[in-house]
Amino acid sequence: MKETLLKMKEEALAALAAPDADLEALRIRYLGKKGELTAVLRGMGKLSAEERPVIGQIANEVREAIENELTARAQQQKTAALAARLAAEKLDVTVPGTVPEIGHIHPLDRVQRDMEEIFIGMGFDIVEGPEVEYDYYNFQALNIPPDHPARDTQDTFYITDNILLRSQTSPVQARTMEKRKPPIRIISPGRVYRSDAMDATHSPLFHQMEGLVVDKNVTMGDLKGTLEMFAKKMFGEETKVRFRPHHFPFTEPSAEVDVSCFACGGKGCRLCKGEGWIEILGAGMVHPNVLRMCGIDPDEYSGFAFGMGVERVTMLKYHIDDIRHLYENDVRFLSQF
Ligand code: DAH
Repeated sequence: MKETLLKMKEEALAALAAPDADLEALRIRYLGKKGELTAVLRGMGKLSAEERPVIGQIANEVREAIENELTARAQQQKTAALAARLAAEKLDVTVPGTVPEIGHIHPLDRVQRDMEEIFIGMGFDIVEGPEVEYDYYNFQALNIPPDHPARDTQDTFYITDNILLRSQTSPVQARTMEKRKPPIRIISPGRVYRSDAMDATHSPLFHQMEGLVVDKNVTMGDLKGTLEMFAKKMFGEETKVRFRPHHFPFTEPSAEVDVSCFACGGKGCRLCKGEGWIEILGAGMVHPNVLRMCGIDPDEYSGFAFGMGVERVTMLKYHIDDIRHLYENDVRFLSQF
């Protein structure tokens, strides 16, 4: 019996040592209820009283040896499996990757941000106003009373008799003067709406940027210097600025402002239609009536204002010949910027 046990131990340990040993099958074969060791132990009843403890001790040693080996091999197999998995899943981080396509800033946004940067650099704040506006701010506070002919030039979308989609960013001037005390130095970019049919140069929705400065002793010279600085930063250091007399109800005097053509330098080309100059904005000294209506004393303070179309500047700057390109979001167009 002793020999059977020792032989069994040797066999079991040899079987367990095989690299791909099925540990569970071996456990059942030797230590299971119907296993070989159990069978031997069952036969112990036939042994004499002296033999029984001796064989019993050997049997226990054999069981312990097999159990220890099972545990050790299970651990080894687990470690080997993990190592194999890590080796199989190894990543080569030096392999060149696929670069994801990156979006583009829309040219209108690009230009608006450039404009904002220039004015922020001159000490202006950015102020926003509502797109759904009162008639009062869009017109009346800007010196355009209900029957004024200037209303006809801005084909307005009315919501009710006194609420409309703002046709210009100028109402933000009035709102700002009502709320702030001078010195005021703000720009206000945003969407404006006019009941125009869409064509190469018109859109019912477009963008303007308004500017307003109010303080003691603000003059037309300050307006000119500010716009000259803007034009040079926006279109190039060589750019010159020209004021032509004009009329806006909310400024007096008023001017339309041209910049020297940045495509031909003023010689005359297709962009400036042979003129050498390109109109970019309207401007003037804030009308005393406007100051007064917004609670600012025109005897103490004066101011200038200007307003320009963001689409217009964008189209000029990038030589875009149809405003619709700016709204259609054709990636072939946008990816050029
Ligand atoms: N709001 C005018 C427009 O839409 C542009 C403008 C002209 C704004 C003169 C001004 C200004 O602030 O002073 O045509």
